[in-house]
Amino acid sequence: MPRHQSVWSATAAMPECAPLRENVHVDVCVIGGGIAGMSTAYHLCRAGKSVAVLDDGPLASGMTGMTTGHLTNMLDDRYFELEKLHGEEGIRVAADSHSAAIERIDEIVRKEGIDCDFARLDGYLFLADGDKPSTLDKELDAAHRAGLKQVERLGRAPFEWDSGPCLVFPRQGQFHPLKYVQGLARALRRDGGRIFCNSHADAVEGGVPCLVHVGRHVVTADALVVATNVPINNRVLLHTKQAPYMTYVIGARVPPGSVPKALAWDTGDPYHYIRLHDDLLIVGGEDHKSGQAYDSPQRYRRLDAWARARFPMMGELEYMWGGQVMEPVDYLAFIGHNPLDDENIYVVTGDSGMGLTHGTIAGMLLCDLILGRRNPWEKLYSPSRVPLMAAGELAKEDLNMAAQYADWLTPGDVKSADQIGRDSGAIVRRGLEKIAVYRDANGAAHECSAACPHLGCIVHWNPGEKTWDCPCHGSRFDAYGHVFNGPANRDLPSVQRPQDKRAA
Ligand SMILES: Cc1cc2nc3c(=O)[nH]c(=O)nc-3n(C[C@H](O)[C@H](O)[C@H](O)COP(=O)(O)OP(=O)(O)OC[C@H]3O[C@@H](n4cnc5c(N)ncnc54)[C@H](O)[C@@H]3O)c2cc1C
Ligand code: FES
Repeated sequence: MPRHQSVWSATAAMPECAPLRENVHVDVCVIGGGIAGMSTAYHLCRAGKSVAVLDDGPLASGMTGMTTGHLTNMLDDRYFELEKLHGEEGIRVAADSHSAAIERIDEIVRKEGIDCDFARLDGYLFLADGDKPSTLDKELDAAHRAGLKQVERLGRAPFEWDSGPCLVFPRQGQFHPLKYVQGLARALRRDGGRIFCNSHADAVEGGVPCLVHVGRHVVTADALVVATNVPINNRVLLHTKQAPYMTYVIGARVPPGSVPKALAWDTGDPYHYIRLHDDLLIVGGEDHKSGQAYDSPQRYRRLDAWARARFPMMGELEYMWGGQVMEPVDYLAFIGHNPLDDENIYVVTGDSGMGLTHGTIAGMLLCDLILGRRNPWEKLYSPSRVPLMAAGELAKEDLNMAAQYADWLTPGDVKSADQIGRDSGAIVRRGLEKIAVYRDANGAAHECSAACPHLGCIVHWNPGEKTWDCPCHGSRFDAYGHVFNGPANRDLPSVQRPQDKRAA
């Protein structure tokens, strides 16, 4: 049986860090110890700021531990599509900032001596089944206009199977994301930065200083960066401009040397993504809107079949894991001052499936903004930008979100909790309430309200991940209802079961 775990978390022990046990004052408080938060904290510490990072789990226990670790300036929404929304100048800035992010990771790895399997390698964009070669022609022209003159069209990618025509993006990168964050943590501590794990930021207050409440303790700071992947402080605005999607990954050994070291992606929507880590072949894809598909086990099977058709030398599956990406309606991350908030509150979100480069861009950009330096990327990534040109996509996603509230009117997935198998979950209707019931492997039922504490959508059971996923803005909860992905910042409320009510 494959492990239901990412290869990264199975092969890296994250550094010990204690929870916050006192009130602390720093120049900058960063909430979130994934790549975005840690990159921002690293740059600020290098610039001489005192910094505290708060994470409510072990370090990098969010999506940075679930990634596939492609570092690329091949934008998966396509340069020719981005150009329609952001113009030629916009795609130049996007290409420049993503290239600079790969370069910066390369520099940090060398300077800090981080042993994280970082490698430069080429990336190949090939046609998905049924896609037209003109997609590649349009993308090649747009990539050149964006300044990526080295991108070329080839007859096929360097795999044994015939991928057909493709574009090659030279000098991309890959790494072990958790070992990289380990290295950032080491450098941060050396420079006086402090990291507090298992420290849940319950609430933030703007002002000077701004306040972050963590249980009984408070961090005060001159500036605050919320890098929780999905912001926990911005209740509505940013969530109307992005949508959450689940994506799935499998890993299987291949004989050494049988697959060339390269990154690869097809042009599908959703698309497939491929890389090697040592001799582990990692293939991802099968994305769907979070909380809006009930077939994640089948998605793993389809991914496996797709990969084996192209890489028949694959051994048994060793790993399978899934995670969530946030898709902004205009394809680029939101990095900068948090809209409608105090001036010293910053946010990074909207990874667009490219959160490693976007998170690294955030590190550089937010450091400049906090230090009062100008940065040429500020406008493109501004969280306050109005995606007018993406009005159609915006309306589509917002209508989709609004439609999710109809779940309040529908019956449950099952009539009674007795119908739920072991190690599985389902929604049960009880009067006006909807209850998220998980039956554990021993047969005990665990019940929570199915109403997401963010804005009240009904969560759905994800059978492949064994999580409750909110279909509206990306909140995710474990089988017992504990929140691990915002914007909800608290657990699903527990409910009294009917038999407990009777006993009371
Ligand atoms: C399957 C998969 C494949 C991917 N592949 C790629 C890829 O190849 N290349 C790429 O560039 N991107 C990829 N991505 C996207 C990328 O991995 C993520 O966007 C990125 O790692 C997110 O980093 P982050 O720092 O923003 O968030 P996270 O890594 O999620 O970090 C946020 C942190 O905030 C903490 N937190 C949340 N709420 C609180 C709170 N209230 N108090 C304290 N702490 C809190 C969490 O514990 C977490 O550690 C992929 C994503 C997935 C899921
Ligand atoms: S994430 Fe917004 S309602 Fe659940």
